[in-house]
Amino acid sequence: MRLNVVTHNPGKVKEYNLALSGYGLEMVHVNREYDEVQTAYLEEVVDKGIKQLAKEGLTDFLVDDSGLFINHFKGFPGVYSAYGQKTLGNKGILKLMEGVEDRGAVFKCCIGARIGDQTIIVTGQCPGEILLEERGTEGFGYDPIFSPDGVHSFAEIPTDEKNIISHRGVALRLFIDELKARGLI
Ligand code: IMP
Repeated sequence: MRLNVVTHNPGKVKEYNLALSGYGLEMVHVNREYDEVQTAYLEEVVDKGIKQLAKEGLTDFLVDDSGLFINHFKGFPGVYSAYGQKTLGNKGILKLMEGVEDRGAVFKCCIGARIGDQTIIVTGQCPGEILLEERGTEGFGYDPIFSPDGVHSFAEIPTDEKNIISHRGVALRLFIDELKARGLI
């Protein structure tokens, strides 16, 4: 089966291909916009996106949305993580968190798909904390300031190891389980 991956990021298509091609799924990159509603929940962004794309006639596709939810900021940047990265950046977040004791945060990744007339929405989480300083050179985005174990940052962990424990890795496994449970793969 061919599955359209709606994203501006070709790297994501590669990642999905890697994870799902073994199950007979072939990913096709669809570089197309959908409206991202203003809400605190990734699931709502994904759900509305799926409904809009289906209404526009797209079939057999998946979308995803992820973000970093920081306790001290009551979940910000969350669904606005791309914007938070562009504006504050890691240095800005560290500055705002100087002297803050509660450094808890969680990365979340929501994958949504519409296959035939079925809708699947799953969310993977990776809890951790915001470090006191940037560490490591791997990865992207918030990786240098987020640590899943309180010791190493995501940017210090090799990508293949990060992918096992990351929010995206967890979401992908949940997605595969759901495809299997529904007899789609
Ligand atoms: P997207 O929804 O996957 O495009 O992610 C939104 C934003 O969240 C990105 O621009 C990154 O800043 C951040 N982000 C998502 N996943 C990760 C990750 O695994 N590491 C670091 N930053 C991430």
